[in-house]
Amino acid sequence: MKVSKLLVGLLVGALSLTAYAQQPIVIKFSHVVAADTPKGKAAEMFAKKAAELTGGKVKVEVYANSTLYKDKEEMEALQLGAVQMLAPSLAKFGPLGVKEFEVFDLPFIFGSYDDLRKVTNGPVGKQLLSKLEPKGIRGLAYWDNGFKSFSLNSPIKSPADLKGKKLRIQSSKVLEEEVRALGGLPQVMAFSEVYQALQTGVVDGTENPISNLYTQKMHEVQKHLTLTEHGYLGYAVIVNKKFWDGLPADIRTQLGDAMEQATRYANQIAKVENESSLEAVKKSGKTTVYVPTKEERLAFKKALVPVHQKMESRVGKEVIQAVYKDIG
Ligand code: LMR
Repeated sequence: MKVSKLLVGLLVGALSLTAYAQQPIVIKFSHVVAADTPKGKAAEMFAKKAAELTGGKVKVEVYANSTLYKDKEEMEALQLGAVQMLAPSLAKFGPLGVKEFEVFDLPFIFGSYDDLRKVTNGPVGKQLLSKLEPKGIRGLAYWDNGFKSFSLNSPIKSPADLKGKKLRIQSSKVLEEEVRALGGLPQVMAFSEVYQALQTGVVDGTENPISNLYTQKMHEVQKHLTLTEHGYLGYAVIVNKKFWDGLPADIRTQLGDAMEQATRYANQIAKVENESSLEAVKKSGKTTVYVPTKEERLAFKKALVPVHQKMESRVGKEVIQAVYKDIG
């Protein structure tokens, strides 16, 4: 009797150990934009590929739209290990003490996605990601969103139209300087708060790639959008370093492959997603979309390019020069 009880006990123990061993490793992937955006879709793609390539050993839970954390909090949550993966905009690493990423915010520095790729796929891109290591963060990839345009409740045809306007920006000193160069008043604010701030008039306008503008319905509270495409917004996909380094080697390799596939997908869809968001904004009839003439865009460029030199001491002259060199 005693022996059989012991056997049953051992069997139950063994079964629950097996069940425990079969529990998937959970990666909480938090982000602030809608699921239906380039980043949202790429995060879902990563989750799918991670499950496939690890044979279900890893489960990626994607939390979109700031449902878990807002901008600043999500960085802290990653460092504390409350979430394992994020993809913050490159404009949001300054508060962490990694100012060099703000090179991506310099107005008109990239003429195209191709220019950008030369940087993110090259040594500068790698070197920038390595600066996250001392913060307990490993950088895995760069994901595109796109080029930002200004929106307001009044028409925007020249830099003078932004004078005295309160413009919401991401937490980047370069963006602060950009708005000041136009005579505007920069207001740093979490992404999740922008719609309401626009609606209530806490800020007059903002800058965003169209996919963000559209999926947050900002076009419903902004009467004018001018396709200035004056700056870039993209992402670094990052993980908690301790978590990543602690993964079994084979799983880490499989997740690396999943990330590679998700990155290819992200960078394939970003442009198209932004184009279809622009069509949807136009169709909504809520915002007047204006395409600046060559001369008008040049006036913005003239007003904004001095920001490069002004921000040398913040971003690092060498980093800026290295980017110029990559672009050629
Ligand atoms: C913003 O705050 O405007 C963007 O960084 C949001 C995002 O993640 O694209």
